Amino acid sequence: MMLEIQHRDGLARICNFETAHGTVETPALLPVINPNKLIVTPKELEDEFGAQIIITNSYVIKQSDELRKKALKDGLHALLDYHGPIMTDSGTFQAYVYGSVDTSPEEILKFQKDIGSDIITILDRFTEPEDSKELVEEKVRDTLKRAEDAVDEYGGSDIHLSLPIQGSTFTELRKEAGEAISKLDAKAVYPIGGVVPLMEDYRFKELAEVIIASKKGLGPKGPVHLFGAGHPMIFSLAVLLGCDMFDSSSYIKYARRGDFMFPTGTVKLEHLYSLACDCPACKDHSVEDIEGMDEDSRTRLIAKHNLGQMFLEIRNIKQAIQGGSLWELVERRCRSHPQLYEVFKVLKEKWRFLEPFEPRSRKSALMYTGAESLNRPAVKRVQRWIMEEYEPLFDGPTFLFDVDENEKPYNRHLRFEISEIFRRCSANLLLSTPIGPVPLELDEIYPIAQSIFPRGSKNEGLVDEYLEKKGIDDVLVWEGIKTLRSVEDGGGANLDVMRIKTVADYQFGKGAGEVLTDGQLRFVKNRKGRVKNVMLDDDHILSVRHYDGFFTLKKAGALILKEHFSPPSLRLKVNDDSAEFNRKGRNVFSKFVLDADDDLRPGDEVLVVDKNNRLAAVGRMFLTIKEMMEFDTGLAVRIREGIEK
Ligand code: GUN
Ligand code: ZN
Repeated sequence: MMLEIQHRDGLARICNFETAHGTVETPALLPVINPNKLIVTPKELEDEFGAQIIITNSYVIKQSDELRKKALKDGLHALLDYHGPIMTDSGTFQAYVYGSVDTSPEEILKFQKDIGSDIITILDRFTEPEDSKELVEEKVRDTLKRAEDAVDEYGGSDIHLSLPIQGSTFTELRKEAGEAISKLDAKAVYPIGGVVPLMEDYRFKELAEVIIASKKGLGPKGPVHLFGAGHPMIFSLAVLLGCDMFDSSSYIKYARRGDFMFPTGTVKLEHLYSLACDCPACKDHSVEDIEGMDEDSRTRLIAKHNLGQMFLEIRNIKQAIQGGSLWELVERRCRSHPQLYEVFKVLKEKWRFLEPFEPRSRKSALMYTGAESLNRPAVKRVQRWIMEEYEPLFDGPTFLFDVDENEKPYNRHLRFEISEIFRRCSANLLLSTPIGPVPLELDEIYPIAQSIFPRGSKNEGLVDEYLEKKGIDDVLVWEGIKTLRSVEDGGGANLDVMRIKTVADYQFGKGAGEVLTDGQLRFVKNRKGRVKNVMLDDDHILSVRHYDGFFTLKKAGALILKEHFSPPSLRLKVNDDSAEFNRKGRNVFSKFVLDADDDLRPGDEVLVVDKNNRLAAVGRMFLTIKEMMEFDTGLAVRIREGIEK
């Protein structure tokens, strides 16, 4: 299935995909329609909730004489009186609940095709948390075989297949299943199946592990559907981990029990004192009203409330993806329930899986929502670099500054101290910040400057670890100007130069700082004295992005980096046709990407080169490398400067 990414944040993405009955924007919620009993009609779903796609069960239709005949005669869309995209499920869930079903894999697929479904699901084998490993292996094998058969039969047609990944809680099996299914040559939807029991029992930690393992196997293929994801409380987490679609009949199941869903949890009707909701369904009703209703009206009202909350949460999530604040949303949601809180452990353990999808900076500041925020990949990455890769610039002493949240960016707060120190000596200035030790010259980059922590936050353990690791014993803890008494004369350090050295090393790789400062440096500054452009031997090599402290790379800078770093570093190789266009300043599309440096991240500056490693353009990465290699459509790199031969 053609998937085109419009916006992204980590593994989360806003995409469009096409079906015969219209375009769907993901993340998408597919309300489940029970064809035997329409509590909320498809038309209401579309008109009142903006549903772009729905899902129904082909097995339920097939088992009813009346529905089957009508569906075969007039088509599924007429049967449900809905003209947008419809996905159908196969009877797998019924087999799980009732033990068996009265159909075969071939028959139920053909039936879905015959009634005109837009996305048809194979009869996968539901893997249960209680299943033995042997049984799960067998079910995964069967599911894969059925997926292969389905691809043989329908792969070439324009019908979309839905090929679930099974594997219970065995993460290795999930990963292998994902790998095997992603290799099949089909434009498909990839549901993660067998997770309903985990969700019903609030086993969210295992759910997160299962999603990550399945995504590891699948790669960037998509869209990924989470089968039976019933509660808006978990949507943001699932999206953060790379799920694109949800289906749920829970809005009705919950309504029958008198349960009102909210993105922060569930509230029972009998516990309601006043109805703290002004959604269209609740707006004109009191608790007494609703309690006094007949059962059907009450169920319908609560079902509509539940749908409203689910769609609202999907809109919240899209907003957060677009604004770069999905991590904050997820962290807040993970505090909605103790079992959801356990997911923080998984997010911490799996940061290396999540990191390659993380942009090096975001539009919005990193907001601390609690101690777990320090485990985000965006924090871990810069912490790790400082601890493992950074080399202090000078042999001289290290001045340690205890800085606080309201003093950002720290270098401006410390202007006087810095100039006094550098007048006397070339020293390393180390800041003790909420994320740990930070060399002064990194203090303007994301998330060091672009973050909000509670005042007084510290991470002193990491500062000690840093000093030990770098073998620094000449530490002067800043206690005012008297700290300089023992310091020898012989200054000359320049913070602007230090910044280029260290930020460039962090942004482009070790050694970049050295080559980008090797010559006659000159700075173009703005009225406030901040560096705007960096000139080396009169060539404009870098501009400073003031919103995140990183550099944009100019042609002259790109040529220097290209000279210094051998392929494939910093490079994205495109085919010759693309290179010609890119030289004229036009963007790179995924289809034309041949190869690239694995260390490049979305949002990074990149050297676009042709097959012979000649520089064609400089631009900014929009996708991850894996996504570019996988997708055959859509923007890959936004070109800023084309470079004619
Ligand atoms: N509905 C809920 N879970 C599943 C599943 O694992 N497979 C299918 N086909 N449908 C489901
Ligand atoms: Zn409501």
